[in-house]
Amino acid sequence: MNVPNHVAIILDGNGRWAKSKKMPRTYGHVVGCDNLEKICYMARDLGIKYLTVYAFSTENWKRSRDEIDGLMKLFRRYLKRCIKSSRENEMRVRVIGDTTAFDEDIQESIRVLEDYSKDYDKLHFQIALNYGSRNEIVRAIQKLSKDVKNGKVMEAKITEEVFESYLDTAGIPDPDLLIRTSGEQRLSNYLLWQLAYTEFYFTDVPWPDFNKMELVKAIEQYNSRDRRYGGVKEGTSCSKQD
Ligand code: IPE
Ligand code: IPE
Ligand code: MG
Repeated sequence: MNVPNHVAIILDGNGRWAKSKKMPRTYGHVVGCDNLEKICYMARDLGIKYLTVYAFSTENWKRSRDEIDGLMKLFRRYLKRCIKSSRENEMRVRVIGDTTAFDEDIQESIRVLEDYSKDYDKLHFQIALNYGSRNEIVRAIQKLSKDVKNGKVMEAKITEEVFESYLDTAGIPDPDLLIRTSGEQRLSNYLLWQLAYTEFYFTDVPWPDFNKMELVKAIEQYNSRDRRYGGVKEGTSCSKQD
C-alpha cells in the first residue's frame, strides 16, 4: 500500500457518538481522546511520516462552560500521557494554534512535550489546539510585517515560501490526505492554506469509532485517486519545449 506522507484529520463526532449511547458529550471526548493516542501507533505502524489532527478550534470556545472545562481537563491529562507515546513511537510532537489562550500549566505541558520529543523523527505529530486557519494567517502576517519593518525581510522578496515560513506549520510539508469523520463535509477553518492541493476523504464513522481498518480504507481510497497539479499527473511535468 502506498502510504501518504502527510495525513491530516478533523476529529469530529465525539458528541453525537456519546449521544447515541445516551451518555454525556464529555464521555465522547474521553473516548475520542483515547482514540487520539491509538491513531499515533496506527500511523507509525503504517509508515505515515506526518500526522496533523484538529483537536480544538478557535471557534470551540463558544461551547458550554462545562464542556470546555471537561476538554481542558482532558488536554491536561493527554499532554502528560503523550510523553510515553512520543517515546514509544519515536514521534516528534508539536502543537499548532495560538496556545497563549490556555492556562499557564497547559502551556508548560506543551513546552515540556515539544522539548522532550524534539529529536524524534519516525513520526511528526502535530496537534491543533486553539487553532483556526484565519487566526494562523493573521498571526503570520503580524510576524512578517514586524520583520519587514525591522529590515529582516524585504517586501519585494516575499514569496509563497517566505510566507509559509511564518505559519505554525513552517517546515512541515502540506497534507496529502485530509480525513474528516462523522459526516460533515466542511473545513471548519482548518489548514486553509496548507490544504490547497490535498485530497479530501469524508466518512460517516464518528471519531471514537475510527480505527485502523477505517484508516486503511481512507488510504486505499486515496490511492485510487488521480492526483494532479495544474492538470499534470503527480511526479511528472513537461518542459516548455514538449
Ligand atoms: C469533535 O467532536 C471534538 C471537538 C471539536 C473538541 P464534537 O464535539 O464536535 O462532536 P459533535 O460534532 O458535536 O458530534
Ligand atoms: C471542528 O469540529 C473542530 C475540531 C474537530 C476540533 P467542530 O465540530 O467544532 O466544527 P463545526 O462547528 O461542526 O464546523
Ligand atoms: Mg463537531
